Amino acid sequence: MCIGAVAYAQEKIYSIVTCPAEDPSQSMNISWAAEEEGSYVLYAPANDKNWKKVRKAIPQECLCTTYDSIYSKTADGKNIYERVRFTKCDATLTHLKAGTEYKYRIYIKGKAESEEYRFKTAGKDKWSAYVISDFHVYTPLPKRLDAAMAMMDRLNEYDDKGEWTLHLGDVTAWGGSYSFWKAMYEKDHFKKYMWAGVNGNHDNMTRVNGQSHEFFRDANFYPRNGYAGQEGVCYHFTYGGVLFIMLNNEAMHTVEGQEAAKAWVEKVVKENPARYVVVCEHYQWFMGANGKASHYARWSELFDRLGVDLALAGNNHIYVRTAPVYAGKETDGTKGTVYLQTPSSDNERGVSCPPEFSHNTDIIKYRWAEGGQTVGGVHMDVNKKRMVLTLLDRNGNVLDKATVLAKKK
Ligand SMILES: [Fe+2]
Repeated sequence: MCIGAVAYAQEKIYSIVTCPAEDPSQSMNISWAAEEEGSYVLYAPANDKNWKKVRKAIPQECLCTTYDSIYSKTADGKNIYERVRFTKCDATLTHLKAGTEYKYRIYIKGKAESEEYRFKTAGKDKWSAYVISDFHVYTPLPKRLDAAMAMMDRLNEYDDKGEWTLHLGDVTAWGGSYSFWKAMYEKDHFKKYMWAGVNGNHDNMTRVNGQSHEFFRDANFYPRNGYAGQEGVCYHFTYGGVLFIMLNNEAMHTVEGQEAAKAWVEKVVKENPARYVVVCEHYQWFMGANGKASHYARWSELFDRLGVDLALAGNNHIYVRTAPVYAGKETDGTKGTVYLQTPSSDNERGVSCPPEFSHNTDIIKYRWAEGGQTVGGVHMDVNKKRMVLTLLDRNGNVLDKATVLAKKK
């Protein structure tokens, strides 16, 4: 066993990621790590060639020790305690114009220390996004991340107008290993879009039994509008008429935890009227192998009552998608919730999906996985009348399509 530092020192700024603010038509949150204090963001509309309309955002800074001295592994397989201390920077870009592409860079003392990053603000009723999960970044096996990013390439080829990416958790193998987050954020797909995610069980853990949602919280800068103790982990934002409510399953292992989450979902839905309501969590709605109800059983009553249009999850590594369901029965789509869970995308930790299944055969309309080596992703296309979710395989083939009708004005 060796004890050592992962060398970040040559880079002054790293782990840059664009996250939604509560209203991403006007504001955007940027998270990064810095080796020194005093960094800031300069941003401008993407078409402002000479940066004439540039604005500056100064971050909130704090010393982040969340990942310090956690037992981990280096990319070349050595056992290590990662010595990680950095200045965590959270900046909110404000005064943004809706439906507009922006660019930004991070600076220290007048010198650009990052590449140019881009994102689009919400604002249009018609938009599209990419959905992916469960790629379990683990630097000793870099092909996991490569497989997921290749899936992002396929989604991008299917529709190059995708405005942002939604992930449904388990993006890292051990969220306590900072080097895994850092490796992920170096990929180009993190430089082009806003990313919004949920905390997965793997993101919540360390190599040896550690558990904390601070790993997920401090690797991002999500809105602090979650319920007590879950600020920056559970959050909500409204993108182009769709209210997204992001849950943390790791805070729901007790009855009290479950009830607190439910009360918050109810409150958020009531206070944030939107054309569509989408609830996201990491744990699956159904067991893909046999169709048995999993978290569907805990949530469906509330989703019926609140008029949740779409429920998204990951974790099971088997894609499962239902018909619109209300009171346990398939509807004609004018009522009810479509439940969808994404497949894994790392070409390594997948599971097999037997052709026959025994439970919920009346409401489950499609199941899919490629066995141990599964790679899939979902495209989300939204307009005023309906949302369409399309499952693509690693070759960009369309395997399934689900339509979610607009039910609210
Ligand atoms: Fe997973």
